[in-house]
Amino acid sequence: MKGIILAGGYGTRLYPMTKSISKQIIPIYDKPMVYYPLSVLMLAGIRDIILISTPDHLELFRKLFGDGSHLGISISYLVQDVPRGIAHAFIVAEDFIKGYKVALILGDNVFYGQGFGKMLKKAASLEEGAIIFGYYVKNPENYGVVEFDEHLNVLSIEEKPQKPRSNYAVPGLYFYDERVLDIAKGLKPSVRGELEITDVNREYLKMGKLKVLLLGRGFAWLDTGTPDGLLEAANFVATVQKRQGLYIACIEEIAYRMGYISREQLLELAKPLEKTDYGKYLKTLATLDLESS
Ligand code: DAU
Repeated sequence: MKGIILAGGYGTRLYPMTKSISKQIIPIYDKPMVYYPLSVLMLAGIRDIILISTPDHLELFRKLFGDGSHLGISISYLVQDVPRGIAHAFIVAEDFIKGYKVALILGDNVFYGQGFGKMLKKAASLEEGAIIFGYYVKNPENYGVVEFDEHLNVLSIEEKPQKPRSNYAVPGLYFYDERVLDIAKGLKPSVRGELEITDVNREYLKMGKLKVLLLGRGFAWLDTGTPDGLLEAANFVATVQKRQGLYIACIEEIAYRMGYISREQLLELAKPLEKTDYGKYLKTLATLDLESS
């Protein structure tokens, strides 16, 4: 399975913060926002990743991650000239994803919760159809909204409905089989002029091939869309990291734990970060017995 991180858009809702930089590069506490979605794909076991951003910002990401080989993964970069919609990502990445299953994650989505790694691996092993997630929120009208029955059969999915049929928002993380490219190519732009990811999901629903997995109570899917959301997300990450001494979305740690890099490689990665708590954390990891931590 291939992975796509969609990290484009103009970020106008965060102006002036994002007037000259990419939203997905601004930090959440101690690391760039894009680390969080990258960590999700890595936890799912996906090692072939395409990052899509604007012509202005793509180089920032390349500078951050290079070709990904230091993490034992491969990262390629593609430009989305204009934000034509989330589903447009599949068309941009056509040459990379043709004939492959694909996971798509939005570059501004932050997830954290127990058992997520297992859930991601299950989603990444999908044989056919599509998997989306459902997360209970108090303001579903701001998101894609999924309605389902007691057996988790999806009944409907709508984009930012005025009258939501459930409180379950659909986070920006989606798993699809090989058909997603053709489905995206067949879409018509919505009234707001975008190729909507919700329309892709609706096509899978029509085929009876859309599954929803619920991210339960206690799970964190954080909002990064406003200055307050960013501050709260940063405080959340800081609180968990300081209390447990275990980091959220530490991509070097995930590469090490997943067996993508060796202990020696981890120590090499820690070297230039020696002066920071982040670097010290990486060094400590290299001395731990992984089974017990
Ligand atoms: O975050 C989850 C929500 O994301 C879902 O519940 C909705 O169904 C989905 O439509 C989307 O809603 P948003 O209103 O958050 O979408 P937005 O247009 O803000 O785009 C989300 C991110 O994707 C944003 O950081 C910019 C990036 N993006 C968006 C578009 C439309 C691109 O990189 N390219 C694009 O063409």
